[in-house]
Amino acid sequence: MTDTASVNIDALLKEGRTFPPTADFTATANVRDDSLYAEADADAEAFWAKQADKYLSFSRRWDTVLEWKLPFARWFVGGVINASYQCLDRHVEAGRGNKPAYLWEGEPGDTRTITYAELLEQVCRFANALKALGVKRGDRVGIYMGMVPELPVAMLACARIGAAHSVVFGGFSADAVADRMNDSGSVLLITQDEAWRRGTTVALKRNVDDALAKTETIRTVVVVRRTGNQVPMTEGRDHWYHDLVESQPTTCDPEQMDSEDLLFTLYTSGTTAKPKGIKHTTAGYLLQTMYTHDVVFDIQPDTVFWCAADIGWVTGHSYIVYGPLGNGVTSVMYEGTPDFPDKDRWWATIEKYGVTVLYCAPTAIRTFMKWGKEYPEKHDLSSLRLLGTVGEPINPEAWIWYRQFIGGGRTPVVDTWWQTETGGIMIAPLPGVTVLKPGSATRPLPGISASVVDEQGNPVPLGGGGYAVLTRPWPGMLRGIWGDDERYKETYWNKYGDKYFAGDGARIDEDGDFWFMGRVDDVMNVSGHRISTTEVESALVDHPSVAEAAVTAKADAQTGQAVAAFVTLRGGVEESTELAAELRDHVGKLIGAIAKPKWITFTPELPKTRSGKIMRRLLRDISENRDLGDTTTLADANVVNELQSRAAAEADKEQ
Ligand code: PRX
Repeated sequence: MTDTASVNIDALLKEGRTFPPTADFTATANVRDDSLYAEADADAEAFWAKQADKYLSFSRRWDTVLEWKLPFARWFVGGVINASYQCLDRHVEAGRGNKPAYLWEGEPGDTRTITYAELLEQVCRFANALKALGVKRGDRVGIYMGMVPELPVAMLACARIGAAHSVVFGGFSADAVADRMNDSGSVLLITQDEAWRRGTTVALKRNVDDALAKTETIRTVVVVRRTGNQVPMTEGRDHWYHDLVESQPTTCDPEQMDSEDLLFTLYTSGTTAKPKGIKHTTAGYLLQTMYTHDVVFDIQPDTVFWCAADIGWVTGHSYIVYGPLGNGVTSVMYEGTPDFPDKDRWWATIEKYGVTVLYCAPTAIRTFMKWGKEYPEKHDLSSLRLLGTVGEPINPEAWIWYRQFIGGGRTPVVDTWWQTETGGIMIAPLPGVTVLKPGSATRPLPGISASVVDEQGNPVPLGGGGYAVLTRPWPGMLRGIWGDDERYKETYWNKYGDKYFAGDGARIDEDGDFWFMGRVDDVMNVSGHRISTTEVESALVDHPSVAEAAVTAKADAQTGQAVAAFVTLRGGVEESTELAAELRDHVGKLIGAIAKPKWITFTPELPKTRSGKIMRRLLRDISENRDLGDTTTLADANVVNELQSRAAAEADKEQ
């Protein structure tokens, strides 16, 4: 565990404020007492069976709740279900077709309201179009788009015909798209001409053209027109979305899928340079997202839910698409950045649509704090009754600010801990029941079982730091890594054998509440997004001027962590600010802008042990400007003094 993590947790543990639920909130809450915990503890499988009966519409009910052949789980075995039927047809059949599924707000100010009936029709048309283009059950389909309604339409159309989607965040580069398409073996890629972002455009189609030069499996590209600017179309390969759907029938029978059929893969960073294609299957994932969405966000018939994440990340998959649509809820979906045209865009949006639940990342909250409370104060935010956060530990100041200035000092704030791998929320308060503590995600949800253990796998006494593990399978758990069962076992199961290793440091306090402290491996968390140190290192070393590079995370007031790189240049190459800028762009080109190093320190040599291993711990201490402690294992102790002064100079420059 990094020292920064320990320092943070010490600070957090001094945080003594508590916020019990108000009687008013509890009176109408979906969960009003803690009997659900007891019920789930008594018999977890019976608990999940009951939830499946409550939330899921199978066309053939399952035979067995769970088949657990460690580490491979199968949930609701024998069940037949379709995710798009679950999210759409059910609600229309129940007479709720006129209820808005999405209140969509485009960045330039255009808006669209899409009801459940309309969404179903669009999904059917596009599903038919995909079939006409030769996409079959079991195929993988890539999606690389901005936050437009056609993105959830595309995902659900894939689900309808039994193809698995693989969404790539629209901020990733052409190379990142190509890697993911090649790894998943996708046959078709859905994109748009360009995306709007802070008043300018992102050239998605152009990136796709570059990516396709490096992919072998994609035969067809579908392009949604968004900005209307001209983009090159390759005859025979590229098709306009609007041309395709126009002539298609408005109905399409949902494919009968097995509970365990692949719903999607989503790539996430691990400790190596190669991202992992996390596999999620149908019934268990749907249950995890719907159940958690319902109990954690206390969904009511009139809820207007806004998850402000991007659908390119798991948060958007689970809480913009499958959870809310599964539950038949109205969601706000916003295309652009929070500061366009001004820094009050979110607050104006909440006022305009009467949003009742807002779910966002601590990094956004810290940015809003920096911009100042005058922006939210310009708007009536009284519709809000609940706030949520996800993606990284939230510092108590940000939690308190969020509750005070966004939640009017009234609303509960639910801090939700989970991962791409878990599919849905795992550790979080039940807002009608749980006493909230700023900085703590509180307790594992009913049905979820977690612990904090030491290196040997023994539970750490309350208050002690250790590794977060999940001790029972759960319905939304990843079913593996696409094409790499060995890596799945190695990453999550080999450390403890029978417990899922989450890669996070944590502590449990005397009330049983969890306090997360950040990653314990080589994964950084920048603005709530996972980036692998190794991935950035290989991108740097890919540049012809670079001989060697080491990357660490450095604490950053706004983004939580930022990327700090130490770079040794090849002989004869001059250090310069221009070269540093070029290296940043190179990382941007290979991975995406979010992975660009904020700090680059050139160094003639990296600190290494006598056996030649880079001393990353030391580099972390140097970038955090901490006391270095024992450096006697270093091959050359002088390297360090030089590095310290260079890193300090670099940090000064950036401030
Ligand atoms: O380190 C934890 C952090 O984000 C990681 C998962 O990242 P990702 O798969 O990208 O999913 C993010 C959205 C679910 C975790 O291993 N993390 C997520 N939520 C929290 C958190 N750390 C502390 N508190 C949280 N609430």
